[in-house]
Amino acid sequence: MTSEQIETSSYDKFNAKSYLTRNYRARPDGIPDSPEDWLPWLLKNLKDTFAGGELSGERLLDVGTGPAIHNLISAARHFPNITCAEFCQENREEVERWIHGEEDAFDWDPFIKYVCGLEGEDDWEARKEALRDAIQHVVFCDVRDKNPLGAMNGGPYDVVSSIFTLCGAAKDKADFDEIVLNVGSLVKPGGTLILVCDLEATQYSDGDITYPHTFLEASYIRQAVRNSGFTDVEDDILDFRSTEGRPGLNWNGTGYIYLTARRCSE
Ligand SMILES: C[S@@+](CC[C@H](N)C(=O)[O-])C[C@H]1O[C@@H](n2cnc3c(N)ncnc32)[C@H](O)[C@@H]1O
Repeated sequence: MTSEQIETSSYDKFNAKSYLTRNYRARPDGIPDSPEDWLPWLLKNLKDTFAGGELSGERLLDVGTGPAIHNLISAARHFPNITCAEFCQENREEVERWIHGEEDAFDWDPFIKYVCGLEGEDDWEARKEALRDAIQHVVFCDVRDKNPLGAMNGGPYDVVSSIFTLCGAAKDKADFDEIVLNVGSLVKPGGTLILVCDLEATQYSDGDITYPHTFLEASYIRQAVRNSGFTDVEDDILDFRSTEGRPGLNWNGTGYIYLTARRCSE
């Protein structure tokens, strides 16, 4: 499929501002406010992945960035050349607004302070500027395309991350396999893939629009990643099943998976 032939999806109507205000708040104590503390779980995993010092290189690609930059705070400490790739123009514009410090940009300061706290770093303002400098490109992508970046594909990346994007973009499991292959092809041999997905969800609703999700078990996701040429697959699961319902999450899954894998050398 070429970019011109890409089908529309419910994400054509994605509302960046309402997504941000609904999902990305901090409590008065500075801790990100999220059901079951999924945000602290995610940000700690990202911090650990990058702080481990095992990821080498300079270029990082985030696929399906949405209007949000919080997933890149730890990465920017080590990767000075970051590309944000995203399907919706409105989301790309929201990221650009933050990079340029525009007045109506979303306020990510509480998240930057929080991650700096996790990392034992005092100068959060310097980190904010470093993140702004590190995000060098904000580009269109469609993970359903064999070449998701189209003409913007400047060769494989040292690290590719994709957070809460692929299960919403896939129509079914076979489609998910294709999408993992497409996104995986953007990782250098020896490079790292970071994938965060919903588990066993069939939909997410923001109150106005319902976004269908592909029902994926953790075992299925791990195998799809291995089948796409990756090894050293490791993951951490945040399981919501033991909790009473999922307050605030208009979503019907059972948990989240944070997965890292290394692309096999050719
Ligand atoms: C739930 S949001 C996640 C955004 C961000 N990564 C975060 O953690 O908040 C899913 C994102 O995937 C993007 N998306 C949906 N379909 C896509 C596609 N086919 N190719 C690339 N991105 C897509 C949406 O526009 C949206 O920004």
